[in-house]
Amino acid sequence: MTGATIIDGKSVAASVIDAVKAAAATLEKETGARTGLAVVIVGDDPASHTYVSAKSRMAKECGFASAQHTLPADTTQQQLLTLIESLNADTEVHGILVQLPLPKHLNSDAIIQAILPEKDVDGLHVVNAGKLATGDLKSGMISCTPAGAMVFVRRIHGDDLSGLNAVVIGRSNLFGKPMAQLLLNANATVTIAHSKTKELAAICRRGDILVAAVGRPQMVKSDWVKPGATVIDVGINRVEAPEKGEGKTLLVGDVAFEEVASIAGVITPVPGGVGPMTIAMLIANTVAASHRAVGRKFELRSF
Ligand code: GUN
Repeated sequence: MTGATIIDGKSVAASVIDAVKAAAATLEKETGARTGLAVVIVGDDPASHTYVSAKSRMAKECGFASAQHTLPADTTQQQLLTLIESLNADTEVHGILVQLPLPKHLNSDAIIQAILPEKDVDGLHVVNAGKLATGDLKSGMISCTPAGAMVFVRRIHGDDLSGLNAVVIGRSNLFGKPMAQLLLNANATVTIAHSKTKELAAICRRGDILVAAVGRPQMVKSDWVKPGATVIDVGINRVEAPEKGEGKTLLVGDVAFEEVASIAGVITPVPGGVGPMTIAMLIANTVAASHRAVGRKFELRSF
């Protein structure tokens, strides 16, 4: 049973993508600068290849110069660093995305910190993380998935979350921490819960806004949710679905959608919720980077 409003992430993402396309075209027409994105993938993880192809395809669709660098799984740290350095030096490349996770023998953090902060369209460089943490949301890059989730939050609750409790489950650098910072910046009272948290259900039930990013299929149940809450599901879990036929699988979120939809006020589905926003915000970050490279502004918060 569904009582909640279901957010259509595809349509929100489409509005961001339209704005990015228009901005990239205007920039090129007026300055000659074509927005460039370099996507780097190491190894042959099939899910990562699917994500990266979608990112490269979207960049092309937006009129960007997009180059994908596909490196073998046995690439050395030095080889990858050398590639990053050449992309840093290339004035036609405005954004660099290194798909994570990298193979275990590589030091991901050293690679990410080697990317020039102004080209770090994932918002993972300490300079960008630090700007977000100190409340500078204008001059840095914000991690794509939390930036996308925040577009939903703003559409539902407006820019000022004063008086609202927000609970984020998950504390990763890629999502949980930046999500919490964004909510805090918008004046929410923020709790970050994680795998060591006690009384998780009771804490989640305090959230007017509940954001789940744990990577556990359908973990958040209806009795974890405050009636009327906004529930943002960031999980993408592939589970077996024998009811669809032998060997078939299904994508589900971290939230038990059907039962939570009967109690929440607003909910994002999986697929079709936060997922499409990640790519939309990546290209938005990239077009912001190309604007800044020629001394122009592209306001990300206007979505
Ligand atoms: N792997 C899963 N999500 C992401 C993301 O947003 N950026 C990168 N670089 N890798 C990822």
